[in-house]
Amino acid sequence: MSTETPRKKKKRRSRIGAWWYRTRRRFASWLASLGTEDGTKKKKKKHHRKLRKQVIMALVLVAAIACAILIPRGITDSKLKNLGYTNTQIDAIRSQKLTSTILDNQYYSEYLAQSIEDGTLNTDYIAYYTVVSSSDGLDAVDFLLIGRLRDKGYEEDQILNLFENLQFWEITPLLVFDYQYDETAYISDCQEHESENSTSYFVLSGTYYTPYENTRLVEDSTNVNMLVNKTWYLDSSYIPANLTELDTRYASEGRSLAGVAAEALYAWSSAGAEVGVTFYAASAYRSYDDQSSIYNSYLSAYGQEETDAMSARPGFSEHQTGYTVDVAATNEDDTPEYKDTNAYQWTSTNSQDYGWILRYPEGKETITGYEFESWHYRYLGIPLAQAVYASEMTYDEFYMLYLKGWDDETCRPSDEILTASDWQTVYASAITG
Ligand code: DAL
Ligand code: ZN
Repeated sequence: MSTETPRKKKKRRSRIGAWWYRTRRRFASWLASLGTEDGTKKKKKKHHRKLRKQVIMALVLVAAIACAILIPRGITDSKLKNLGYTNTQIDAIRSQKLTSTILDNQYYSEYLAQSIEDGTLNTDYIAYYTVVSSSDGLDAVDFLLIGRLRDKGYEEDQILNLFENLQFWEITPLLVFDYQYDETAYISDCQEHESENSTSYFVLSGTYYTPYENTRLVEDSTNVNMLVNKTWYLDSSYIPANLTELDTRYASEGRSLAGVAAEALYAWSSAGAEVGVTFYAASAYRSYDDQSSIYNSYLSAYGQEETDAMSARPGFSEHQTGYTVDVAATNEDDTPEYKDTNAYQWTSTNSQDYGWILRYPEGKETITGYEFESWHYRYLGIPLAQAVYASEMTYDEFYMLYLKGWDDETCRPSDEILTASDWQTVYASAITG
């Protein structure tokens, strides 16, 4: 008994203990499970809240960035639209990074807008696109002319004023004239003569050429294309290379020319003879001293003003170059002037094909500074003579635009423009020889 009872007691306690133990564990585990679920939920909630906050912040940031970009963009767009640009043009303005240039300067013209849209705008000259019309347009030769005017000392607003109001051929004479401080007077004068002036006839009321002032030694007296006029002179010691006495079948006795010009005179004269036109060189090379005698004899007979209109001062005569002739018709009455002969009709329209140009044409006296000289021809070589003839410019203008060196290198246009505005390129279709 005594051994059994404690064993039974022990057994009973153990069963209750086990139940209690199990119950306690279950409760604890339930509680624990309750506690864990609650914690996870709380954690998850906290995590979600954090995530939501982050997402909202990111959205706010994106919205702020979008606003920072889109609002000014919208404002810019409306400013460009107010100026007159279309949506396509505004896109092109953005891609060409022209927004601030255009808005700062309030640039707009149909021609500018179109040039931006079709990608042909040269941004270096953007202001000029606002003053010329689509029908006139701008090309490399215009940019060359702008460079030449800058080189001559014109201010940008003056050049813009000229381009806004005048035609190309009304502006090129300014390259020959001395610097004009008042371009508006020149513009008014051109406008007053608008109905009578053209590429082949140019008169003005005012005097813009100030001959024999600001004179300069010719740039390159070894080059056949040298310009000699009332500004550009030859040194008294200059004598042409290969000075050749002319065959008397083509010239008066004792006349001479530079070798290439002599050959060109023979070819020209022979071609004329083939079509029944006969002429010869009545005058050709004249030395500095020869010119001095001629000028002085005119001076004593006619006075300064008249003499300067028909005779060059020594050093300033093309005859000294050795590339110039005064022609006369053979067997024709050339009174009162050579221009009244049949020979003139042929020489004045065909000389360029033999390398010669009529140097002082009728209607261009304002630019050349000389009365019309129907007999005075200058040798330039066939391609250049053909280009000058096609240009309808005086040689003074042609040289100053296409051939002169640059006084101020910063005014020289880009190589791309210089190549596109090269006279051989511009007049390629007129050059056959
Ligand atoms: N008669 C021309 C202009 C000269 O004297 O050269
Ligand atoms: Zn002459």
